[in-house]
Amino acid sequence: MTPRPLPMRVPAAGLPARVRIHEVGPRDGLQNEKATVPTDVKAAFVHRLAAAGLTTVEATSFVHPKWVPQLADAEDLYPRLAGLTAAGGVDLPVLVPNIRGLERATALGARRVAVFASATETFARRNLNRTVDESLAMFAPVVARAKADGLHVRGYLSMCFGDPWEGPVPLDQVVRTARALAGMGCDELSLGDTIGVATPGHVSALLDALTADGIPVDRLGVHFHDTYGQALANTLAALQHGVTTVDASAGGLGGCPFAGSATGNLATEDLVWMLQGLGVETGVDLDALVATSVWMAGRLGRPSPSRTVTALSHKE
Ligand code: HMG
Ligand code: MG
Repeated sequence: MTPRPLPMRVPAAGLPARVRIHEVGPRDGLQNEKATVPTDVKAAFVHRLAAAGLTTVEATSFVHPKWVPQLADAEDLYPRLAGLTAAGGVDLPVLVPNIRGLERATALGARRVAVFASATETFARRNLNRTVDESLAMFAPVVARAKADGLHVRGYLSMCFGDPWEGPVPLDQVVRTARALAGMGCDELSLGDTIGVATPGHVSALLDALTADGIPVDRLGVHFHDTYGQALANTLAALQHGVTTVDASAGGLGGCPFAGSATGNLATEDLVWMLQGLGVETGVDLDALVATSVWMAGRLGRPSPSRTVTALSHKE
């Protein structure tokens, strides 16, 4: 039998030894599916991702069920994952927009939550029904209560590079909102390229602007969507800046129901292939991950857009 292809391991200078992959497939991936994914399938998906070595798996959202019907089963799903955190040491963060969401999540034992702001007014209005400042005012008590209860809090910041309604987003506009999220106590910020328009120089410029403003790079993660095929190049630029937290979605699932031009996230398999080649540790078993995405593609009824999944699952 022909052995499966492997990237040749050739480390490059100036990269971290290890990257923590923040897997968002079950949340960012499935929130955008037209067909309803049964809760059993979601639970199996998260278990398989954990078994493939992913230690942070964003499980679901405690948002208004009418806004994101695809994740309306959060109360049913989350308890089915309890064994992973208790015995397996897997973190299962969830999205919470407000105190109501935080209370729903913590009632089920969530220890990691994420609020999600926008750098632009139009997306804040469409995604949160609020202005940017009103949404920050909604998040402040959420972060304060979560921190007082000892939770880890992530602050997403969407539309950091471009917005489908407002066009390119000025760096200082992103810095202002990032500063607000960091100031209210978010442990880490995830910089979202919601519609995938970033290119590597832009990523470097934003990271420079944020670190110059006093946000240390070890509090920054990156969240690239792969709409224009730039997500891996953008990730490499971020790693060269010292970023060690990278969001990705198994099989390249994803998008945002409130930003029609958003397609899937950076595929976790494509990321792991590059990092393996660079000699950067992730702890992920690529074969198990590809098998999971092929299985999920079967449940969703269409092939994964990931190049690595396609290549590694190709049968002669
Ligand atoms: P609203 O309509 O302004 O809510 O929505 P409200 O505060 O006026 O409350 C209205 C009703 O909703 C009330 O019920 C609340 O109790 C209820 P009533 O008193 O009328 O019976 N309600 C809730 N119910 C359950 N859970 C809750 C909740 N909150 C209020 N948490 C809201 C405001 C923020 C709730 C709404 O806009 C919302 O849920 N938005 C979620 C949008 C979303 O999930 N978007 C996708 C995630 S973001 C993303 O994908 C980007 C990211 O991937 C990064 C990137 O790529 O850039 C993270
Ligand atoms: Mg996203």
